Amino acid sequence: MSYQSIALVGAGGKMGMRISDNLAQSSLQVHYCENAPEAQQRVRDAGRSVTAVEEIIEQCDLVILAVPDIVLGKVSEQLVPRMKAGATLLTLDPAAAYAGLLHQRGEIHYAVAHPCHPSVFLERYTEAEHADAFGGVAATQSVAAAFEAGDESEKAALAEVIRVMYAPVDEVHWVTVTQLAYLEPTLVETVTCMVGTFMKEALEETVSRSGVSREAAEAMLYGHIQIALAVAFRSSNPFSDACMVAIDYGRENILKDDWKKIFDQQELDRVIARMLKIDRVRRDEDSPALGSA
Ligand SMILES: NC(=O)c1ccc[n+]([C@@H]2O[C@H](COP(=O)([O-])OP(=O)(O)OC[C@H]3O[C@@H](n4cnc5c(N)ncnc54)[C@H](O)[C@@H]3O)[C@@H](O)[C@H]2O)c1
Repeated sequence: MSYQSIALVGAGGKMGMRISDNLAQSSLQVHYCENAPEAQQRVRDAGRSVTAVEEIIEQCDLVILAVPDIVLGKVSEQLVPRMKAGATLLTLDPAAAYAGLLHQRGEIHYAVAHPCHPSVFLERYTEAEHADAFGGVAATQSVAAAFEAGDESEKAALAEVIRVMYAPVDEVHWVTVTQLAYLEPTLVETVTCMVGTFMKEALEETVSRSGVSREAAEAMLYGHIQIALAVAFRSSNPFSDACMVAIDYGRENILKDDWKKIFDQQELDRVIARMLKIDRVRRDEDSPALGSA
């Protein structure tokens, strides 16, 4: 099988524009749908025409929802009943699918595909690769995707589209929706993005408390981010004994003893409910927890 006709809803938003730029270069038939006037203008300025989703949704065999997570429930309620039987609904983040917000219909397949972004260990050769921090332009990235009801041929067909949307792509990693939610938010937002903002705060504190120049502090920090990642993840050479003492001191003073509770599924439910601005997630209580999926 292959997806012949695609509707991209939210085509003028941040992700919509990024993936449109790649889809437009392929032979796939894509309809660009967008409802905000200024975002419609962005679509037109990029040389694409805007189509009203109501006009084409019944013919499309793949509908990509690139709308904000907090409106995915409402938008899926409006669109899913009008989709062609057997078509696939693709969202770009696991939160709404995990929380049970997507309108359900037996004849529709549901999938999620989230870009991993180019790895910090990626070997980059060109200026364009170096400039492409987000991915989808020149630097190769992987994609984590869930298509739990999809069989091998449906997954292969969806992977073809995913590889175009987020190109250049090396691997599409198939996981469950719950596993995808453990990847994002838990691993990469709750921990990794938090640590990024934490390092920035530590930089500001160093500059204001010690009087060291910003240039010196940035040079020291950026070089050590690189070496800390290389040693921790690639064991390129060990941390020194004195550094290990400082690491232990940092863990004792900065981390809470019970920080790993963020991997409890009730905590995942809590952070996702907070992100989606809802009281609680409506997930199947039997959905597999981390480690048993
Ligand atoms: N921004 C990122 O870095 C990023 C990364 C990975 C995944 N995502 C996911 O991508 C999705 C979109 O996020 P975004 O950051 O691009 O959002 P955004 O706010 O930049 O864009 C959303 C677009 O959807 C449009 N829209 C809203 N309701 C619509 C409707 N009913 N019909 C047509 N268009 C409609 C809006 O006008 C807007 O242009 C979310 O699920 C998000 O989690 C975002």
